[in-house]
Order: sequence, then C-alpha cells, then structure tokens
Amino acid sequence: MEKVIDESVQGKALSLEGKKDNSRKLYIESYGCQMNFSDSEIVASILANEGFNTTNTLEDADLVLVNTCSIREKAELTVRKRLEKFNAIKATKPHMKVGVLGCMAERLKSKLLEEEKIVDMVVGPDAYKDLPNLIQEIDEGRSAVNVILSKEETYGDVAPVRLNSNGVTAFVSITRGCDNMCTFCVVPFTRGRERSREPQSIIQEVDELWEKGYKEVTLLGQNVDSYLWYGGGLKKDFAKASEIQRATSVNFAKLLEMVALAQPKMRIRFSTSNPQDMTLDVIHTMSKYDNICKNIHLPVQSGSNRILKAMNRLHTREEYFELIDNIRAIIPDCGISQDMIAGFPTETEEDHKDTLSLMEYVKYDYGFMFAYSERPGTMAARKLEDDVPLHIKKRRLNEIIGLQREHCRLRTEQYVGKVQEVLIEGTSKKSLDHWMGRNSQNTVAVFPKEHYKVGDFVNVKMHSCTSATLIGEVVGYSDNN
Ligand code: SAH
Ligand code: F3S
Repeated sequence: MEKVIDESVQGKALSLEGKKDNSRKLYIESYGCQMNFSDSEIVASILANEGFNTTNTLEDADLVLVNTCSIREKAELTVRKRLEKFNAIKATKPHMKVGVLGCMAERLKSKLLEEEKIVDMVVGPDAYKDLPNLIQEIDEGRSAVNVILSKEETYGDVAPVRLNSNGVTAFVSITRGCDNMCTFCVVPFTRGRERSREPQSIIQEVDELWEKGYKEVTLLGQNVDSYLWYGGGLKKDFAKASEIQRATSVNFAKLLEMVALAQPKMRIRFSTSNPQDMTLDVIHTMSKYDNICKNIHLPVQSGSNRILKAMNRLHTREEYFELIDNIRAIIPDCGISQDMIAGFPTETEEDHKDTLSLMEYVKYDYGFMFAYSERPGTMAARKLEDDVPLHIKKRRLNEIIGLQREHCRLRTEQYVGKVQEVLIEGTSKKSLDHWMGRNSQNTVAVFPKEHYKVGDFVNVKMHSCTSATLIGEVVGYSDNN
C-alpha cells in the first residue's frame, strides 16, 4: 500500500477539452501526493493561456511535462524510467520538449538538465507562473530552469482547470510547504516554507465548484491544522504580525467553519492533519457541521516515544492517545486513518511492538504504510545511519500491513446492517451496473445503479462487505440531496 491518492491514477496522463484557438499540445503526467495532482491542474490552467491544449497521446505532444515526487527513492526511480521513455520518443520527434515539474525538479535542480541532459526544462513547485517565460526560452532552443522557492506563492489567483475529473469531487489547496521538519521527510526542502492561501479565494473556489455541480471538496495541505492567514506571509513570521493582523487572523478551525457555512450542502474533507498541530477547536467544528465529513487522516509514523523523538514529531504516544480519545468523545463515529513508517534508523523490535500496540489502541479505519527510505539532505540522512536491514524493515512493514488489514475489516464490518449516506462518484471498478461512492468516514460503498446518478446523495443500506468495501442497496435520496 503505497501512499498515493489512488494507485491506479499514478502517472495517469491528465487531459480535458481544450480551447478552440490553441494549437499546441501538452501531455502532463503526475506522480505522488494529491497536492501534485492539484498543482498539475494549475499548470494546465496557466498553459491553456499560452496556446496549449492537453492530450492523452504522448506521441502527439509538443510539450511533455511530468510532475514528480521525491518522497521515497522508489518514487524517483519510477519517474526516471518515464524520462527514459520520453527521451526515446523525443529522438524521433525533434519538436518535442520535455520538462520536469515538482519535487524532483526542486531536489535535483539543474542536475537533470546539465549533468544528465535528459530534460529541456526544470520547474520547481513555486515557479509555475514563470512557465510562459521558461517555455519561450526552450522554444528559442535554450534550456530553462526555475527552482526558486517562494515566501508568498499560493496560486490563489489561478483558477485550476479540473483534469480527468468525475465532476463531483475536487481538491482545493489551502496551504503550501511545510515547517515541521520531520527528520525523515524531504518535503520541507522541496516545497519550501509554509504559507497559507487567502481565505476569500478559497471560499470563491468552493463556490465556483458548487456552481459547476461539484458536491465534495478536499482542502489540501501538507499540514492543514497549521493553516493561518493574517494578511499573507510565512507562518513562521506570525510572531511579528500587528495587533490588527492578529485580531483578524483565520486559523484552520475558522476556515473550516467558513467553508462549511459558505456551501452548507457541499461535503468537506481535509488532508493531512498533524497530531502536534490539531486543536480541539477543529474537532468541535467538525462535529458542529453535518457537511464536514467525519474522517481524519492523522499520520503518526511510529508508536515508540524514542522513535517519535528521533523523527522530530513533536508529540508523545500518550499525547496521541489523548487526541484520539478526544476525537472519539466528541465525534464517536469518526473515521481515523494513519501513515506509518517501518524501520526508521535505530528502530528496535521493542519500538516496532510499540507501533503495533498503538495500532491496536486506535484500530484505524485505513492506513498508508511504508518502509523507511533515506532521503538525501534530510536530518535523518545526515545524522543517522540507515541501519535497519532491508529484510527486517520488510518483515515489520508486513506485520503492520497485516494488522491494519484486520482493523480495516473490523471497521468496515461495523457499517453492515446500517444505513449510510453516500455521495455517488462514478461507476464501480468491478461492475458496470453498480455505482461507487463513500460514506462520511471515507469508506467505499458499491450498490446497484437503479435510476440514481453521479452526484446524488443517497442513503444506502449496507448488507455485506469485503475488507475495505461496503456492498449495499439504495433506500432513497438522503436529506442532503
Ligand atoms: N504531511 C504530509 C506528509 C507527506 S509525506 C501529507 O500531506 O501527507 C506522506 C507520508 O510519506 C508521510 O506521512 C510518511 O509516512 C511517508 N514518508 C515521508 N518520508 C518518508 C521516508 N523518507 N521514508 C518512508 N516514508 C516516508
Ligand atoms: Fe513531511 Fe512532517 Fe511536513 S512528514 S510534509 S515534514 S509534517
């Protein structure tokens, strides 16, 4: 189980209906987290104004862009394989240009261009507004690089085009970058310092989505609980804010409420939460508004206090349990999911057992689990030897995955026999006669289509399940429809 939005969309070429007058063709492929997929929509929007329409056919493209992920070594290797493929095609199509976007562009900077000579253009995650200039450079036969990280850029003023959308669910980015400096993580280096997007532009985007027929938004950030708007600027500079800026500042709980009130029938999700930054205000706001989904993605990474400390996760196991207890007390039916890393440097069998016992305590609905992958430049890479042998990492990871699978089944089973509100997202992957959607807790449900349609909110009586999918039948429209 790799951490991705959906394994099946990794590397998918994104395309949409283009503008009539545009004559050039853009092929854009995305890897990694939801933020990357969301960024590709911003890139496509910027390039639509530069004469580019998107295509699904690589061979037709004038410009090939790959939005990349650096989170684990494997993610980078996948992209490198793709670059080889693009270069093979390019050899027969001299007009074709290839560009790298996102985290690998930022991490490797001009290396892919100057040393390896496998791309024409390198653009970091904060430099997409410079694409028109960079493309002009490559059109004139030069190579182009912009990997400058910004203190302000949030793309709040770029209306993303929705690529490969189901027309029902959409991502809305609310923060960029991360200040947490978890010692294993490359994100603070590739995505820069944390900054928040202006709340009115978020509300406006949500309003526009509702008008276009969207029924669910996921507010996105590396660490959404850390959202803080006080007129712009970096989160770390809030200490220097004026009194007025402080008095009118908007934190995540407030933003969540503003979005919930702006569109009371729109389902609202958010990702990702960080235990050290999540406040009780957020949990109370979730419980107050029916349209905020009862689901929290709350990565913990390890159950061992010693490892949490070495990871620079600024909470203990006991504090995490307290947070879980509070969530369960305030929102008894809340879905909770995790990210976990097996085999962080120095991890002992004892530490690993702490992880398993933490999982037993929480019994997560879902999880994304990884073997530790050393990332160059991170604190862990600089200070700690990657000393847990691969076979031990893998064995521990498998134990974590096995336990999660049990808990997942347990959590899914609890809905059998119950009626749940589900938003219909599209046709089930396994059957053309069935719809798929999710309940508030994010558990997938499938059921016969009957006369219902995509975008309907329906009540589904669940009669059985597999370990992660509910199977049921619609009993009627829900009140929210
Ligand atoms: N806050 C972010 C986390 C981004 S990374 C978010 O929005 O999800 C996603 C997950 O990848 C992390 O929670 C962690 O479990 C995993 N991860 C990050 N760096 C890793 C590394 N070096 N090795 C293995 N897994 C890693
Ligand atoms: Fe990475 Fe930790 Fe931020 S996992 S994205 S540094 S919260």
